Amino acid sequence: MTGVLITFEGVEGSGKTTQLLRLERYLKRTGRKVERTREPDGTRLGLAVRRVFERPGVRPEPLAEVFLFMAARRQHVAEKIRPWLGRGRLVLSDRFTDATLAYQGHGRGVDLGLIRELNVRATEGIAPDLTLLFDLDPAEGFRRIGRRRDHFERERIEFHRRVRRGYLEIWRAEPKRVRLVHAGRSPALVADEVRSIVEEFLGGA
Ligand code: TMP
Repeated sequence: MTGVLITFEGVEGSGKTTQLLRLERYLKRTGRKVERTREPDGTRLGLAVRRVFERPGVRPEPLAEVFLFMAARRQHVAEKIRPWLGRGRLVLSDRFTDATLAYQGHGRGVDLGLIRELNVRATEGIAPDLTLLFDLDPAEGFRRIGRRRDHFERERIEFHRRVRRGYLEIWRAEPKRVRLVHAGRSPALVADEVRSIVEEFLGGA
């Protein structure tokens, strides 16, 4: 694998998607070969998984949720991420392996060891080279997104606080791979920090 995988994580409304798009534009301007993708809906199968959650009367229990996201991840890695990395691309993914640890593990209480093991199977051991964690109080995130609410966004605030704590635990365990970005500041300031983290990483990678 000669490419680089950078993942974007954080609670709802943390601004990670906006920052990903800004970083993509910047990296392209500097002449890098960038691919942008997202989970769960980076493939058609993944899009179908996302839609499952929106179907009336469909309420996957926690482990079923894990399997759904893992199916999407497996397909995503096989169809896109592995081939791109093989071709030396710089891949930016809006959520990846840490999202299942944070949401289904810390948020729903599914065994973290099991999720880690399934992540390795689903990805063939491909792990992010760098993860940007956009940290924000979930209450502030919901103020930002207003009335937009999907399956997970409708969860109680306590769930999202557990997700946030879960992400912070992942950061504390792997501070070299996971870089914490305080997402409560202006988008321009956050974008500057993201750029310098990524440039420093690529310079030294
Ligand atoms: P978003 O990235 O557009 O916010 O939407 C993805 C939603 O799916 C978000 O609410 C988090 C959730 N999710 C999980 O719960 N587990 C996962 O493994 C992934 C990839 C996403």
